[in-house]
Amino acid sequence: MNSEQAKQSIDQLSEELHEHNHRYYVQNKPIISDYDFDLKLKELQKLEADFPQLASENSPTKRVGGDITDRFEKVKHKYPMLSLSNTYNFDEIREWEARIKKNTDDHIEYVCELKYDGVAIGITYKGGELFQGVTRGDGQTGENVTANVRTISSIPIKLNGTDFPEEFEIRGEIFLPLRVFAEMNEQRAEAGEEPYMNPRNTASGTLKLQDSSVVATRKLDCFLYAVYGESLPTKSHKENLDFAERLGFKVPEASKKRVALCRNIDEIEKFINYWDEKRFELPFEIDGIVIKVNSYATQQQLGYTAKSPRWATAYKFKAERVSTVLNKISYQVGRTGAITPVANLEPVLIAGTIVKRASLHNADQIAKLDVREGDTVYVEKGGEIIPKIISVELTKRPSGLSKHTYINHCPECGTALQRNEGEALHYCPNIDGCAPQIKGRIEHFISRKAMNIDGLGSETVGDLVDVGLIDNCADLYALTKDQVIGLERMAEKSAQNLINGVMASKQIPFERVLFALGIRFVGETVAKTLAKAFKNIDGIANAEREELIEVNEIGDRIADSVVEFFDEDSNRKLISRLKQFGLQFEIEEVENDSESLVGKSFVVSGVFSMDRKELKLIIERNGGKILSGVSAKTDFLVAGEKMGPAKRTKAEKLEVAIISEDDLMQMIN
Ligand code: IVH
Repeated sequence: MNSEQAKQSIDQLSEELHEHNHRYYVQNKPIISDYDFDLKLKELQKLEADFPQLASENSPTKRVGGDITDRFEKVKHKYPMLSLSNTYNFDEIREWEARIKKNTDDHIEYVCELKYDGVAIGITYKGGELFQGVTRGDGQTGENVTANVRTISSIPIKLNGTDFPEEFEIRGEIFLPLRVFAEMNEQRAEAGEEPYMNPRNTASGTLKLQDSSVVATRKLDCFLYAVYGESLPTKSHKENLDFAERLGFKVPEASKKRVALCRNIDEIEKFINYWDEKRFELPFEIDGIVIKVNSYATQQQLGYTAKSPRWATAYKFKAERVSTVLNKISYQVGRTGAITPVANLEPVLIAGTIVKRASLHNADQIAKLDVREGDTVYVEKGGEIIPKIISVELTKRPSGLSKHTYINHCPECGTALQRNEGEALHYCPNIDGCAPQIKGRIEHFISRKAMNIDGLGSETVGDLVDVGLIDNCADLYALTKDQVIGLERMAEKSAQNLINGVMASKQIPFERVLFALGIRFVGETVAKTLAKAFKNIDGIANAEREELIEVNEIGDRIADSVVEFFDEDSNRKLISRLKQFGLQFEIEEVENDSESLVGKSFVVSGVFSMDRKELKLIIERNGGKILSGVSAKTDFLVAGEKMGPAKRTKAEKLEVAIISEDDLMQMIN
């Protein structure tokens, strides 16, 4: 056989094998026997051995692995891999859905899917072939595990047809089917080895094995749940899943109710309840249900918080329960002075991890459970949250256990505790004199997402407070190197690093300084919103509650907390000291491109030739003001494609000018 003939046979066999693979692993409808499949595979392997120059990276023979990776290369994600907000409480799903309805005027459709309990993967395809597979990593950068991904039979190496974008990424969850997991553990038991903990950890460990031929024997599987790319042919999530299916991907089957389009909260609830009951019949583990807004235009309109999309959320199922003995109830004091009771347990294994402590929430919870030191309790753990005590096994209560009495003085500073009416938690009111509160506030202030002070960690903060060098975050800026050198673990160099880190933090932008102040309910995203709306700290400090609420996304709870913070004299003093030290207390104004829209206010709605955020930025850069909803104060409604009818009607009623993207551009030019 010459090289030309060999190439023809290799191409022919590869195509056949890709197709049979897809029929077997994705569609579950094989049309040839395993024996015939193996014969063809062997034939291809032989040809590739004889003509190694013709063996491609994406040959079906690569399914069996063989490539060994020493260290996985780090790859930056083109689209960050975010996480999902989640809850165990259906009322919060209701609230989420209500917020969505409030923030859009489109008719909303949702897609409900299973939340597969495995490891996330992002797979890039170029020219219809698998190009690379990257793990989630920290969400920004992951590890290149392509050789291992190629061994997963349900992930296509070559796509079906020709109707695909030149380059795109598909995301999904790699998991270990329960049957495979059980078989692996049977074999381990026979060999006298310790069993693996759970399918999820095993899948994640397997994906990171260096020898891809071992990965190939493990029979990992993968469901796909999202497509990312510049020129996607569809306008909704569900259409995209269908599109991915046509290309050969394994997507959840609507026929098995593993994915459904829902038009309202009742249909979402039905889907959740169905799977809450049936999940144990699935051949793989799930830990909840993911609910996504179907339309991409609406998704875009809703946007993202710092961590997760607003257009999707997860309902998590209650996790496994285990019983153990509660040895002691102790108390922790947080940075806001809130007291949390903690159950110290006889160590117990739950869902693959050893649990020693559990949260008891508050005094009411302890009273309601009537939980006592020495009781046998049921503990539940879900995801990454701290395990909780669910109930007491009264039949196992030893006689003579006395009822637990909640503390009435702070365990750290001895001050009498307070409890505000209608609130569940006790607080230590000694804000300025209680060590864990002082330390907690400073630790938050210096943390990475706040002032990110290099050279200063929580241990050193503790030492600095203990020796009386600092009482609050402003004191950090008055520290001298000589004072610091005296501390434990502090030599000349580390002391200098600390001082340098503190000085450098003076350049941190206003919105992060605002977040660093630790105002209750003012997280990263809220701090950004407030900074942008009020421009500087005085604007926020002097704003009335009503002015705060007028800002998009600021509700009663946040407004009250902000007002309360600035009512406190010590907080105003602290800020004035920080100002004197030169921290940033106003947003850096970028010079406008033009002044052509000054004094005019705009509402932007619908789909445009560019991202809506970009359009809003253009308006602001030319002096215009963006409003969240049409009102008498609106000058222009910029209407894009698919703008909801409600906005138009309202604008017409209020005689607000309705303009197009082109009209807007003309106003600017
Ligand atoms: S969508 C922008 N859909 O859950 C977020 N995620 O916290 C897009 N997961 O690490 C994620 N099943 O790996 C989505 N049907 C599903 C999912 C799913 C499991 C995982 C995902 C991510 C985590 C989200």
